[in-house]
Amino acid sequence: MLKGKHIILGITGGIAAYKSVQLLRLLVKSGAEVQVVITPAGKEFITPVTLSALSGKPVISEFFTANTGQWNSHVDIGLWADLMVIAPATASTIAKMATGVADNMLVTTYLSAKAPVFVAPAMDLDMMAHPTTTRNLQQLRADGVHVIESATGELASHLVGKGRMAEPQEIHDAIAAFFASRDDSALAGRRMLVTAGPTYEKIDPVRFIGNYSTGKMGYAIADEAARRGMKVTVVSGPVSVVPQEPGVEVIRVESAREMLAECRRLFPEQDVAVMCAAVADYAPAETADRKIKREHDDVPVIRLVKNPDIAAALGAEKKPGQRLIGFALETDNALANAREKLSRKNLDMIILNSLADPGAGFGTDTNKVTVIRADGAAEELPLMPKRDVAAAILDRLSL
Ligand code: CTP
Repeated sequence: MLKGKHIILGITGGIAAYKSVQLLRLLVKSGAEVQVVITPAGKEFITPVTLSALSGKPVISEFFTANTGQWNSHVDIGLWADLMVIAPATASTIAKMATGVADNMLVTTYLSAKAPVFVAPAMDLDMMAHPTTTRNLQQLRADGVHVIESATGELASHLVGKGRMAEPQEIHDAIAAFFASRDDSALAGRRMLVTAGPTYEKIDPVRFIGNYSTGKMGYAIADEAARRGMKVTVVSGPVSVVPQEPGVEVIRVESAREMLAECRRLFPEQDVAVMCAAVADYAPAETADRKIKREHDDVPVIRLVKNPDIAAALGAEKKPGQRLIGFALETDNALANAREKLSRKNLDMIILNSLADPGAGFGTDTNKVTVIRADGAAEELPLMPKRDVAAAILDRLSL
C-alpha cells in the first residue's frame, strides 16, 4: 500500500520517540520513502544516526546543516511529501502547530506541507487531560489534521492513564488505510449530504418536542465517507457528537423545517444524500413567544401539525445519477414497512434498524441493520459497531 509514497516522519522530544524507530522500520518495509525531521528535543531521546541508517536519508533537524552550511528547505520537503506523520507529538509541538509557532524545522515544515498530516500525541496523563491540550487538539482537528488517539496504559512516569502513544503498527495501519481508501475508493471526490440527530420543535422559548436520537449513526457515516475521500456536509440537529475526521462540514439546525431548507439548498450539488436524522413527525402549530406559565386555570393543549418529510422532498427532486439513502425504524411488519417507505420516498436504499435487538438503536455504539435495495432485495447484517455499519453501507453504494 505504501510503495513509493513519500512520508515525512516528524519526531519530537518524548520518551515514546524510541517507538518511532519501529514505526520508521514498518513504513520502510511497506515500501515508503521516509524523510525524518526531528526537533532538537527529539535528538535528546533518539540518535539521528539510527534514524538515517534505517531511512537511508540524512535526518533533518536544523534549518542549516552545521558543517556544510547547506540550507534545508522546509518548503521543498513539504511539497515532496504525500503525507506527514508526527509521532510522538508532544504537548509542546501540538501547541506550536495549533498556533503557528514556527521556531523549529519540524513546525516550519508542517506549516509548508500541502499533504495530509497525522499526529500521534504522547504525554503524561495530566498534560493530556489539561484543557489547553484538549483545545489545541481540537484546533488541529479543525485545521484538518488527523489525530491518532493515544492509548490508556502505564506511562513513563509509572502513572496509569491516557497519554501513551498509539503502537507503531497501529499508526502504520492508519496511514496505510488512509492511502488505501483515498487511492482505491470510487467515492473519492464525490459529495455526500448526511442528516443526523433529532429535531427540536419549539413549544415556547424554553421547551421543545424532541427524541432520543444522539446522531452517532449519522456522524459515523459522515466520518467513514470522509475517510474514503468524499466531501461531506452534515445537516445536524442538536447533538453532542462531533465529526472525528477532518474536513467534515457541519451545519447546525434545530427544527425539521430548518433541516429541510438546508437540505434542499445543498441537495442539487450532491452525489448522494443519507437521511439519518430522526425527524420529528409533528411540530406545535404555534410557538408561544413567552414561557407558558403554570398559573393557568386549565391545562394547556398543544395542537400539532405535520412536519415536512425531508427524505420524500429530496426523493421528489432527485436527478438521474443522484442516490438517496434512508433509514427506517420499525417495530412491526418491519420489512414490508421499510420497502413501502423506500418506494414512497423514492429512495435507492433503505437501512432497516431494529429496536428489538439489544445493542441496536438510539444512543448505542453498535447497530444491527438490514440493507434493502431499490429492487426490494434484503440483506441482514450482524450486530456491529456503528463505524462498521457505516462502512458496510458505503461498500454497497455505487455511484
Ligand atoms: N425522514 C425525513 N423527514 C421526516 C421523517 C422521516 O427525512 N419528516 C426520513 C428519516 O431520516 C429516515 C426515513 O425518512 O431516513 C424514514 O424515517 P421514519 O421515521 O422511519 O419514517 P416516517 O416516514 O416518519 O414514518 P413512520 O414514523 O410512520 O414510521
